[in-house]
Amino acid sequence: MGYTSRLPRPRLTTLKWSSQTLIYGYPNSRKSLPFYIPRGPASQNPFTVLESALRRSSSTCTSSSSSHLVRRFYSSETTPERKVTVLGAAGGIGQPLALLMKLNPLVSRLALYDIAGTPGVAADVSHINTRSEVSGYMGEEQLGHALEGSDVVIIPAGVPRKPGMTRDDLFNINAGIVKSLCTAIAKYCPNALVNMISNPVNSTVPIAAEVFKKAGTYDEKKLFGVTTLDVVRAKTFFAGKAKVSPSEVNVPVVGGHAGITILPLFSQATPKGSNLSDEEIVALTKRTQDGGTEVVEAKAGKGSATLSMAYAGAVFADACLKGLNGVPDIVECSYVQSTITELPFFASKVRLGKNGVEEVLGLGPLSDYEKEGLERLKSELKSSIEKGIKFANQN
Ligand SMILES: NC(=O)c1ccc[n+]([C@@H]2O[C@H](COP(=O)([O-])OP(=O)(O)OC[C@H]3O[C@@H](n4cnc5c(N)ncnc54)[C@H](O)[C@@H]3O)[C@@H](O)[C@H]2O)c1
Repeated sequence: MGYTSRLPRPRLTTLKWSSQTLIYGYPNSRKSLPFYIPRGPASQNPFTVLESALRRSSSTCTSSSSSHLVRRFYSSETTPERKVTVLGAAGGIGQPLALLMKLNPLVSRLALYDIAGTPGVAADVSHINTRSEVSGYMGEEQLGHALEGSDVVIIPAGVPRKPGMTRDDLFNINAGIVKSLCTAIAKYCPNALVNMISNPVNSTVPIAAEVFKKAGTYDEKKLFGVTTLDVVRAKTFFAGKAKVSPSEVNVPVVGGHAGITILPLFSQATPKGSNLSDEEIVALTKRTQDGGTEVVEAKAGKGSATLSMAYAGAVFADACLKGLNGVPDIVECSYVQSTITELPFFASKVRLGKNGVEEVLGLGPLSDYEKEGLERLKSELKSSIEKGIKFANQN
């Protein structure tokens, strides 16, 4: 059992009004903490601020009718119960990601698991007066409890890149961690959507698929490589060059999640009319592909992207939750099982729904530069996929 902040399930019966919040109490429990649902004006409401940031940042979604639905949905007191579990929750990504998921009003239970350090993170995050009940779990013997009943499992467990390391240098350590965590997911929550952050994503997603296939639980609609950070970077860098607001920009990023396998499609960037030169597009593409290295070098031996990655992970998990809850037109880029190229896994725009992937969307029209990039990335991505499959089947 988890040991911290394991609160009783809220009984939504005892209501008390304050000026800002409707407070649901836990009757008959002296240990209980209050459970808040926001009622205040949008400008003062942290959930609403987060929700609009998440919605604005969505790569392709949402139509005006669906954003209306989203808003109505969020303010509803009948939002479904959803359990989100973070594996690697005490790490550089895990901690800010735990914070962001605690702020997400779609989450009713937040389980934080790590091999060390979870009690402090869980206790800390649990004091935030938002909807979700927080539980911390530490060590392998508690992994099953962390996973049971999960709707979404986010995996930032592993070792980050150090200066001079490529993503593939991490392979052996992280491949083993992902394999054992996915074995537990197959056992304890085979129907959960799995959001893979641990690198190298180009290989860890095929490893997870093989583990699930062996366990007889594989559903290609439920396994996602999180490539949202590439999208977040492409949007930010494009906005800087095109001199538009980053929150207005959409840029699909396809391919994979390492070096040249990251292919931002700036020819499809919106808003249109930026008239960037070919040289500027080449520079933006390179900066997006090398974004991880830029952060690794700036952190000078103290890890890789954590804060921007936590943000990206929270955006993607939020999209998954909205899809599960039936919000229409939720589209994000993700690295998934795919038939849009000859490669078995590929990142592209994906429509999310009640079962996970509803539709893998095609690439759309590409510029000549993007067509060349697509051909160039295929052999590297293919060998990363094969490396993952081989690891899963040999170890
Ligand atoms: N997908 C992306 O865009 C992206 C971006 C940045 C980093 N990453 C990857 O995310 C991973 C985590 O990075 P970080 O900076 O948070 O590293 P970190 O070392 O700060 O945190 C990793 C956490 O994982 C935990 N961990 C290790 N083995 C575990 C296990 N078996 N079960 C549960 N937890 C375990 C560690 O205890 C630690 O708390 C790395 O693989 C990194 O390369 C991915």
